[in-house]
Amino acid sequence: MFRGRYAIPAALLASVGIFGLMAFSPSAAQADSTTPTTLASAGGGYTYPTPTTSPTVSASSGYGTANINLPETFIAPGQAIFDASCASCHGADASGTSRAPNLQGLGAGTVDFWVSTGRMPLADSSVQATEKPPRFNRTETLQIAAFVQSKTPGTGVPIPIVNLSAANLESGGSLYTLNCAACHTITGAGDALAGGAYAPSLHLATPTQIIEAIRSGPGNMPRFSEGNLTPTEAHDIAAYVHGVIQQPDDRGGFGLGGVGPVGEGFVGLLIGVGLLMLVCFWIGERS
Ligand code: HEC
Ligand code: HEC
Repeated sequence: MFRGRYAIPAALLASVGIFGLMAFSPSAAQADSTTPTTLASAGGGYTYPTPTTSPTVSASSGYGTANINLPETFIAPGQAIFDASCASCHGADASGTSRAPNLQGLGAGTVDFWVSTGRMPLADSSVQATEKPPRFNRTETLQIAAFVQSKTPGTGVPIPIVNLSAANLESGGSLYTLNCAACHTITGAGDALAGGAYAPSLHLATPTQIIEAIRSGPGNMPRFSEGNLTPTEAHDIAAYVHGVIQQPDDRGGFGLGGVGPVGEGFVGLLIGVGLLMLVCFWIGERS
């Protein structure tokens, strides 16, 4: 009788707690712990062909400005993959069709972003392309990028060689708050935008993809030129997203998956109100 009165609210409270832990426990984000610091790791475990044709670091004029130069031998295999997987929508020469936009002039970095995040190839062109496991391995992705880049050499967004060793997390944090948090939220969890679009979670993007997104402005995201964010600033943001947002230091308790102040407040409220309810029941019992 006495116990029975506690049983229902206690069970309710426990199930809310267990549900919250299961629903919000961090998972995939932690898997992305690679910090590319060298040319080899910027390629994502990609092994280079013979030295005469390997990608080289283009002349860099300061921190964060090095890019991958794709070898010419990548163009032919890239064209074969493009013919089979992309040309039906983007056209054999990547100049676009009624089904999909022109890719010429976008640059290897833009192609790398869309293919390495799994957005392309697209199955259903009526909805916003989403991140999914990439169809192609690192070498194939670079080959496709080399083919598209070969149509307009030297233009568009290059594939950056990301080196975060000298990045400034503090500057990255304030630049993130100013330029990115409005859409991606302060915790990087992502949010819905107007018109059915959404800004995705940043918990899976690699530093290379982050810089490619900054420079190419995918979909409804604005494009930030080097005049808006310098190479150093873009690197600082990538370091902040990679080092702080993707590996949060959850002081004082559970991270709740970094869902943001509203979600966290909601969970706090549920647990707080639940505890209060138990106390009320207990007081009621005694009198
Ligand atoms: C089923 C048709 C389809 C296929 C197949 C497809 N795409 Fe796309 N692609 C689209 C559409 C539609 C968009 C515009 C999507 C958007 O903006 O969300 C797009 C956008 C892109 C963009 C970004 C263009 C821009 O202006 O920013 C790139 C890069 C791209 N595709 C590359 C590829 C590559 C490389 C392949 C092959 C591996 C491929 N796509 C296969 C339909 C397709
Ligand atoms: C106006 C809103 C907006 C702002 C501001 C914005 N983004 Fe985005 N971002 C988007 C949208 C929308 C997409 C998804 C594009 C698509 O898939 O069509 C996106 C996609 C991305 C992705 C790809 C994530 C993935 O895993 O596929 C990254 C990385 C990213 N943004 C980083 C940034 C950074 C860094 C900043 C600040 C410098 C920023 N964004 C500012 C709206 C925004």
